[in-house]
Amino acid sequence: MKIFSRLQLSAKILTIEEIKRKPVPIHVAIIMDGNGRWAAKRGLPRLAGHREGVKSLENAVRLCSDLGIKYLTAYSFSSENWKRPADEVLGLMELFFETVSAELEELMKNGVKIVLVGNRKTIPQKVLKKFEDTEIITKKNENLVLNIALNYGSRQEIIEAVKEACIEAKNNEIEIERIDDKYFSRLLFTKNSPDPDLLIRTSGEFRISNFLLWQIAYSELYFTETLWPDFKEEDFLKAIYSYQCRNRRFGKI
Ligand code: IPE
Ligand code: IPE
Ligand code: MG
Repeated sequence: MKIFSRLQLSAKILTIEEIKRKPVPIHVAIIMDGNGRWAAKRGLPRLAGHREGVKSLENAVRLCSDLGIKYLTAYSFSSENWKRPADEVLGLMELFFETVSAELEELMKNGVKIVLVGNRKTIPQKVLKKFEDTEIITKKNENLVLNIALNYGSRQEIIEAVKEACIEAKNNEIEIERIDDKYFSRLLFTKNSPDPDLLIRTSGEFRISNFLLWQIAYSELYFTETLWPDFKEEDFLKAIYSYQCRNRRFGKI
C-alpha cells in the first residue's frame, strides 16, 4: 500500500521528458475496458462511453508518439463481443468506421501506420473495407504502428495458425521438427509486431479476456481501477513509470 502511494505520488509529478530518460517499452498493448460503466455512472447510453473511449485512445496514440513507443495494440472488439445487444454492436461498428474516417488526416500527419488485427472474415464489409483502405494509405508511415484488435480472439488466432502450420507441413513447406515459437509467431495476426513489453488493463478487472495469450508470455502486466474513458495522460505515464520500475528476467537470474 505504501509503495503504491509512492508510485502514485512520483508519477503525478513525472513529465513526458522525465519518463523518456529511462527506456520505454517498444510495444504497449491495452485492454480498453470500462466504457459501459463510465456511461452508466452518468446515466448515459453505453455508446456514449465508447465514444468517450475513442478520445482516450487518441490520447494514448499521441503519448506513444511523444514517448517514442513504436507499437500500440488496442483491444477494440473481441470475438466474444458479438454476444452483446445488437444495437450496441451496430453502434460500435459505426463508431469504428466514423473514427477511422475522421482520423485519417491526423494519422498521416503523425506517421501512424494502422494494422487490423483480427478475423477479417466476419467483420462487416463496410467496416473491413474502411480499415483495409486505411492500411494501404498508412502502410509507409514509420512513427508508430497502431494495431487495432477488432473481431479479435486469441484462441481463434492460435487455432488458425495451427491449421496454417498443418497445411504448410502437408505441402512440405516446413518440416514438423522445425516448427518453433519463432515460426509459429509468424502465423499469428500480430506477425509484424514484436511481443508486447507492457499490457495494460483498465476498469479494475484482473483478467485477460482472450487477448494475445501467446504474445504476452513475458509481458509486464499493469492493472488499474481507472475506467478507460478516464484513462488520460497522467494514468498512461503512471503505467509506463511502473513498467520502468520492473526487473524483467525472462527466466534468468
Ligand atoms: C470496453 O468497454 C469496450 C468494448 C468491450 C467494446 P465495455 O463496453 O466492456 O465496458 P464495461 O466493461 O461494460 O464497463
Ligand atoms: C475485453 O473487454 C474486450 C475489449 C476491451 C474490447 P470485455 O468487457 O469484453 O471483457 P469481459 O467480458 O469483461 O471479460
Ligand atoms: Mg467490459
